[in-house]
Amino acid sequence: MRELLGSIVLLAMTARVVRGDEAFLTEPPDYIKQCTIADKNFVNCSTQSIQQLFDKLNDGIPGLTSIKSFDPFHLNRIRISQGNSNAINLKVELANVKIIGFGHTNVLESVVYKKDYSWKTIFTLPVMKLLGDYSLFGRILLIPLNGRGQVFLDAENMTVTMQTKTRLYSKGGFTFYNVTNCHVDFKMDGLKSYFSNLFNGNKQLEDSTNKFFNDNWRMLADALYTVITQTIEDILLDVLKKIFHFIPANYFISDIPTPEQLYGKIKSLPK
Ligand SMILES: *[C@@H]1O[C@H](CO)[C@@H](O)[C@H](O)[C@H]1NC(C)=O
Ligand SMILES: *[C@@H]1O[C@H](CO)[C@@H](O)[C@H](O)[C@H]1NC(C)=O
Ligand SMILES: *[C@@H]1O[C@H](CO)[C@@H](O)[C@H](O)[C@H]1NC(C)=O
Repeated sequence: MRELLGSIVLLAMTARVVRGDEAFLTEPPDYIKQCTIADKNFVNCSTQSIQQLFDKLNDGIPGLTSIKSFDPFHLNRIRISQGNSNAINLKVELANVKIIGFGHTNVLESVVYKKDYSWKTIFTLPVMKLLGDYSLFGRILLIPLNGRGQVFLDAENMTVTMQTKTRLYSKGGFTFYNVTNCHVDFKMDGLKSYFSNLFNGNKQLEDSTNKFFNDNWRMLADALYTVITQTIEDILLDVLKKIFHFIPANYFISDIPTPEQLYGKIKSLPK
């Protein structure tokens, strides 16, 4: 028993290398399906591979301790100023945000572009709920707002298109992705919302405004578009950066080039 435990510990240790404070995998994990980008079936394979990765994220990627929790996901603070039109003119701040639903991600398509190894990923979130403290100043749908309290958003059938920029780098003889940028667009089938204390305690106005937002959810979704995309981008960029500094890109794409092969020998030319 003790020997068995010993060899399990040894196995777990040899599969990771710790360099500085950054550990990374050196053995292919069983939860990743390796694909070949030269294959005509690559998108299909990659879609399954990224689905498996999302599924694994839900119970935690062994060894990747920097992602505390994926579902629910916690964000400290989001600040957004947007618009200067009549419909939208808004300053929003969210704090102590909890997002529920990323654990149920369904990956529809995962494309990787050979030219620069950027990605396009399309996925649906059957559940996507956000809870947090808000402060709002400005107008939504012509209604002047200046309040702070708690917000609850519940998006139905969200479809997200994510465009991700990467820069390849070498570490320990592997090629890794440095995820540098993440841009999302979304659409949804419905948005339920509730803002508490919208008018400093005027309950009647608060209730009628909340009802108005729910009856006109498409307009509310448009008004909050930047708030929602930025929230999702912040989460995904953080998570993707951590994952791909930890897992070599070679385990996802067997025939990924080295940075030298992709960018040429000279890493950066002085301007
Ligand atoms: C893609 O994979 C699915 C199974 O996940 C399969 O049903 C489908 O036929 C595949 N498509 C192609 C073009 O190979
Ligand atoms: C990743 O890219 C960022 C810039 O976006 C850079 O600061 C960082 O040093 C890069 N990390 C690695 C390991 O290349
Ligand atoms: C969400 O998608 C499911 C499955 O496609 C569908 O049955 C349901 O009606 C959709 N919800 C809304 C609010 O459209």
